[in-house]
Amino acid sequence: MKLIRTENYAEMSLEAGKFIVDKLRSNPSLTLGLATGSTPKGVYEYLIQDHEENETTYKQVKSVNLDEYIGLPAEDPNSYHYFMSQNLFNHLDISENHTHIPNGAASDLEQECLRYEKLIKELGGVDLQILGIGQNGHIGFNEPGTPFTSRTHIVTLDQNTREANSRFFNSLDEVPTHAITMGTASILESKEILLLVSGESKAEALFKFINGEISEEFPASVLKNHQNVTVIADRDALKYI
Ligand code: GLP
Repeated sequence: MKLIRTENYAEMSLEAGKFIVDKLRSNPSLTLGLATGSTPKGVYEYLIQDHEENETTYKQVKSVNLDEYIGLPAEDPNSYHYFMSQNLFNHLDISENHTHIPNGAASDLEQECLRYEKLIKELGGVDLQILGIGQNGHIGFNEPGTPFTSRTHIVTLDQNTREANSRFFNSLDEVPTHAITMGTASILESKEILLLVSGESKAEALFKFINGEISEEFPASVLKNHQNVTVIADRDALKYI
């Protein structure tokens, strides 16, 4: 595992952005695994700016997102579909049918999980997966206790996760209770992983990730079993390291 230390959120985003663009230059038909949340927003801003200034193209790029809330239609401003369109896809030359996000409004959610898992296989797997980390160590929405063998599945969100994400909603009650997420095993099959960690609220999680044991009680710890992981963290997140 490689750890890149940066000063702040802006520098973390810049380093991560350069890292991704480098990969795109050497493989313009990359399959990118994408994440939502506050952490990757700055990276997406970098990718948009780079696309505008340097004409990096996404015409052959395919993307698969990690997760989606259950019960929110794609047009809901809190859905991850909406987040991705607003913060990335609408600003790139990526074709809409190359972007994939689990459908949290599907009528048959079990079937949707199977479809998504099959889709990832058909795409040949994820070349580069971008990840954030939850305060409780979750990756995607794989909450503590999720088996490391899990595939795309339906989860009941932890109270801690709902509280952390309630900042985007009008109230905690509005935060969905369930989500669809790529499983831990699905994530671990990515050829390469880029984990981004920013801010003091993640310092404890980053400390546990680096120093703790590999355990299903701390989902991100499974990344230590992967051969090709880069962590880019900022100074606040590295407080205890
Ligand atoms: C969210 C998402 C994760 C994300 C994590 C951290 O709930 N499901 O994919 O990495 O929690 O979010 P943030 O970057 O906003 O701290």
